[in-house]
Amino acid sequence: MDRLNKFIAASGYTSRRKADDLIINGKVKINGKVIRELGTKVDGNDIVTVEGNVLKKEENKVYYLLNKPRGIITAVSDDKNRKTVIDLIDTDKRIYPVGRLDYDTTGALILTNDGDLANILMHPKSNIDKVYIAKVKGLIGKAEITKLERGVYIDGVKTSNAKARIRKYDKKTDSSIVELTIHEGRNHQVKNMFAAIGYEVIKLKREKVAFLSVSDLKSGEYRELNIKEVKKLYNDAKNR
Ligand code: URA
Repeated sequence: MDRLNKFIAASGYTSRRKADDLIINGKVKINGKVIRELGTKVDGNDIVTVEGNVLKKEENKVYYLLNKPRGIITAVSDDKNRKTVIDLIDTDKRIYPVGRLDYDTTGALILTNDGDLANILMHPKSNIDKVYIAKVKGLIGKAEITKLERGVYIDGVKTSNAKARIRKYDKKTDSSIVELTIHEGRNHQVKNMFAAIGYEVIKLKREKVAFLSVSDLKSGEYRELNIKEVKKLYNDAKNR
C-alpha cells in the first residue's frame, strides 16, 4: 500500500507536491470515486485516474547478468514445462531475456524488465559486440578465420564483419577453440557461420555481451548490473 501522492509521483505524472494539489482539487479518482483525503492509501489493484488519465504504476527497473547453463531454454515460459532462464532468477519482477541463447549454449545473458534497453540492445543497428568461444570439430586455419571475418552466407544473406582468432587446437580430440566476435544476432548465427565454412560447433559459450563478461560467475549464477553499467550499455548501444 502506498500513499496516493507517492503512487501518482511514481507513475511519472507529476511531483508529490503537485499530486497533493490535484487531490485537494478533486482531480483524482480511485476506482471511479473522487478522493480528496491526502492520506489515502492505494494498492496495485486500485485504478487511479488523474484528470481523467489512468495511471500505471511504474515498476522499478531491474537488470541481471546470468551465466546461462546448458540445458535451459531462453524464454519466459515453455509449453513443455522445461526450465527457463527466468526460473534461475529470484525476482518478483516480470523480466525477460535480451536476445536468445540456444538450449545447449552457455554464457552471458542479460535479463531485464526495461523494454527500452532491451529494444535498443536487440536492434539490428545497435552493433553491440558479443564474444563467443566455439569448440569446433577439426583444425581451423588462417583461411577459415579470414572467411569468418569477411562474412559468410547464411540463407543467402552475408554476415557482416566479425573478428575471429584461434585460441587453441587440441590434437587428441582433433578440435579447435575459436574466439568469434560478432555484433549481429541472427538465429543460431555462430553455429551457422561455422557450418557455412564446413565446420561443426560442438560446444558454444558466449563469454561477453558488450563489456559484460561472465568470467566471474559460475554456471547458473547471476548478478545485478549497477547503474553505471546500465548507463554504459545505453550509451554503447546508441553511439554505434
Ligand atoms: N549463435 C548460435 O549459434 N547459438 C547461440 O546460442 C548464440 C549464437
